[in-house]
Amino acid sequence: MDNSKIRCFVIGALMMFLFVSIKTQAQNVENGKKIYETRCLVCHQADGGGVPNMNAPLDGATNVVGNDITRLVRIIKYGFNERVELDGLYYSNSMTPNPDLTPAQISDVLSYIRSSWSNKATKVTTVQVQQGIKGSQKTSTK
Ligand code: HEC
Repeated sequence: MDNSKIRCFVIGALMMFLFVSIKTQAQNVENGKKIYETRCLVCHQADGGGVPNMNAPLDGATNVVGNDITRLVRIIKYGFNERVELDGLYYSNSMTPNPDLTPAQISDVLSYIRSSWSNKATKVTTVQVQQGIKGSQKTSTK
């Protein structure tokens, strides 16, 4: 192979790699959207705005776009009923647990809520979810 052929090959391989990684990310969010629509929308609403005093909003929520992935993983998997202050407000409803979602599905739905509406946070990987589940078992008091 001469130099220009090698260059062509390298550029081609790079483009393929980019294409595949962009596609996988989009796939994540697309799957996450479906999970959101079937399991979360009923409480958190299509616009992620929640229901005042009942269901916490996800759009613009500090925790949702924050760095504590373990907490988010734990909330999705085990539910949430702590009546703690979230961005200055309290919510009376209890979030149902989702024990049957796989780590990949949890990463998809978290990636979706972190990058939808006005949220612009990083995606969550399956590995982060697995670490989060492990971490939460160690620290869980329940
Ligand atoms: C039955 C209603 C309900 C469903 C279904 C539900 N949630 Fe929730 N969610 C809540 C409530 C209520 C809270 C706040 C609970 C509290 O304050 O104790 C909450 C809190 C959260 C939080 C934490 C928000 C913050 O600011 O810390 C996240 C993240 C979240 N939900 C994501 C989801 C996702 C993703 C799904 C779908 C897999 C889902 N929820 C399904 C009711 C629900």
